[in-house]
Amino acid sequence: MKFVALNGSPKGSKSTTFYCYQYIKKYFPNYNYREYHIARKIKKIEKNQELFNEIIREIASADGIIWLFPVYLLHVPAQLIRFIELLFKEKEKIRLAEKYATSFSTSFNFYDHIAHQYIQAISEDLGMNYIKGYSATMNDLFSKEERKRFRLFAKLFFTNCEEQFLPEKVTIPIKKNNFQYSPEKIESVPKRFNYRIILVTDTKESDHSLEQMIQVFSQIIPNELEIININNLSIKGGCLGCLKCTADNICFYTDDIMATYQEKIIPADSVIYAFSIKNRSFSSRMKMFIDRSFFNGHRPVFKGQQNAYLISGPISQTTTLRESLEGSQDVGKVHLVGIVSDGSQDSNLITKKLRSLAHNIIWGLGHNKFTRHQTFRGKGGHKIFQDLIQSYQTILRQDYLYYKKNNLFDKPKNFFGPSSLILNPLMRIDRFRKWFLAKAGDHIENRFKEILEKTE
Ligand SMILES: Cc1cc2nc3c(=O)[nH]c(=O)nc-3n(C[C@H](O)[C@H](O)[C@H](O)COP(=O)(O)O)c2cc1C
Repeated sequence: MKFVALNGSPKGSKSTTFYCYQYIKKYFPNYNYREYHIARKIKKIEKNQELFNEIIREIASADGIIWLFPVYLLHVPAQLIRFIELLFKEKEKIRLAEKYATSFSTSFNFYDHIAHQYIQAISEDLGMNYIKGYSATMNDLFSKEERKRFRLFAKLFFTNCEEQFLPEKVTIPIKKNNFQYSPEKIESVPKRFNYRIILVTDTKESDHSLEQMIQVFSQIIPNELEIININNLSIKGGCLGCLKCTADNICFYTDDIMATYQEKIIPADSVIYAFSIKNRSFSSRMKMFIDRSFFNGHRPVFKGQQNAYLISGPISQTTTLRESLEGSQDVGKVHLVGIVSDGSQDSNLITKKLRSLAHNIIWGLGHNKFTRHQTFRGKGGHKIFQDLIQSYQTILRQDYLYYKKNNLFDKPKNFFGPSSLILNPLMRIDRFRKWFLAKAGDHIENRFKEILEKTE
């Protein structure tokens, strides 16, 4: 059997994920393998049709594809999304139906499941039988136990391919439509507020609906809106994961990205991201812009912003994208005011939603930058970040110093404080335990009641 590994790590042959793959390959020498560093070589692939055709031919002649990738900013890296864009342009010409696919990633397991779900959806959109992937941690290859799990996972995948076992497909095909948002004529409202509100977009003339949404939003928000179209920025390339920025927060690229973040996005009170969904994702250009924010490390530099998304496309059918958007805002302590899309296919309704969004952004800014409490996404993410920054404090120096200075490392908490020294042994006595739990319940309830009584 033949397998093609598509390496979505910008680090190419130096990638941790690729080393894990090589381990698997060594362990199962009886198959034919072919691998392509699609992320590392993406610029070459874009320019060289012959190289792209060769990759397509190899994929078409294989029994299975192994998608390799690191998790980048709650998703796969921009370069891999770019490859998928190229692949989908040729979708009709390539026969992948009923081939097998799986995914293998390394990361610190923050939103890895979303990246895998995206790859599963892409594989199933291409008609492939996707066998559930494997999300390893960065250091797993060093562990004997983990290597054993790699082997078992690979064995399971290869057996499924050989036996032609059929997995349940979970991806519902996207329902296409030609809807274009066509609002009635809208009067601009006076710009009576003075917040810094930025709209970041990758819109092109062909994104008619999105262009209209941006236009209407800029008219109905009572504040100036600065629009940054990232297609007009000089962006020399995607994040390469080199980690040079971890020493001093400076990205090695010399282009417009750092200045845009530092002078516009970070100081903004509110940032609205506007994009069209392509192949279940934002565009690779938008993802490149997002990935390149990595020079800010894991620090909540956007904290308190009242942010939103304007989306043209089926966001209600692309739950992985939605989850990634919500997660990134939650972990960043940003208030995600809302997501407005043209999915309802009703122009009047979309205008009303844009109006509501504009109101709620201004309201949040006027109310002390109101932020909802973090959910599991934000709280869980923060725990993972702390762990990562603590472990890698030598490399993630700026993050470490920031977390220390701002007391972002949780201290172990004990609700009962020093009295637990007495309570802990007593709680082993059945009768005391019963009495205590009943009393504790009453005590808490009384305190709730007290607050309600005092509330005017
Ligand atoms: C720009 C960037 C963004 C990252 N974002 C995430 C993330 O969202 N979640 C996560 O678990 N790991 C994240 N990581 C960690 C990488 O996934 C991890 O280091 C991975 O092992 C790198 O694999 P590679 O060497 O194959 O590229 C990120 C790393 C970089 C450089």
